[in-house]
Parts: sequence; structure tokens; C-alpha cells
Amino acid sequence: MFEMTLIDAAGESRTLQVPEGQSLMQAAVSAGLRGIVGECGGSAMCATCHVYVDEAFGDRLPAPLATEQEMLECTASERRPNSRLGCQIKSSAALDGLVVRLPERQQ
Ligand code: FES
Repeated sequence: MFEMTLIDAAGESRTLQVPEGQSLMQAAVSAGLRGIVGECGGSAMCATCHVYVDEAFGDRLPAPLATEQEMLECTASERRPNSRLGCQIKSSAALDGLVVRLPERQQ
């Protein structure tokens, strides 16, 4: 289990214990967190799992694949340099303690 902290647009923070290999989106949806929808179930086809990754962790994430890059063009809230899809972020030792901020809206 590794920790992931999600901070919503209102500034409310929630830390989840996420099994290795599980995506941030899956963990957030399972925990009933508002602010992450995950409409496509994690296939990088909907962009409703958009998050802003804390700068301290930017270098630890693998670069986004072309499909993720394309979907990041379709986010409901502003895309930023640190925008990523939560379904493509998998829990691992390298990302233990990851902090992300949620956008104002996903749809
Ligand atoms: S859950 Fe659909 S793109 Fe991430």
C-alpha cells in the first residue's frame, strides 16, 4: 500500500492507502471521492479523471503516452503543464506520498 493525497478544488484533502498497481482514479472512485468521475473505467477515453500533479512528483511519473496526451486536450477544466489522467497514475513505491489537486469540474 502506498499513500496518495487528493486535494479538491475547495482545498479539502483526503489521503488514501492504495494497493500497488491500482490507479489513482480507481482508488478515488472506490473511496467515494467526489471530484474524480472515471467515466470510461480507466481506458484513457474520457478525461473525467483529470488531476494536477504536485510539482514535487512531476519527475517521478512516466511521460504520458499519446492516448493520454490526446485526452488531456479534452479536459473540462483548464489543462496545465502538470495535468495528468488519474487512471494512468499507478500506485508504486516511487510515487508513495503523491499529492494531486483536483480541478473545479470534470464534465
Ligand atoms: S477514467 Fe477515463 S480517462 Fe481516466
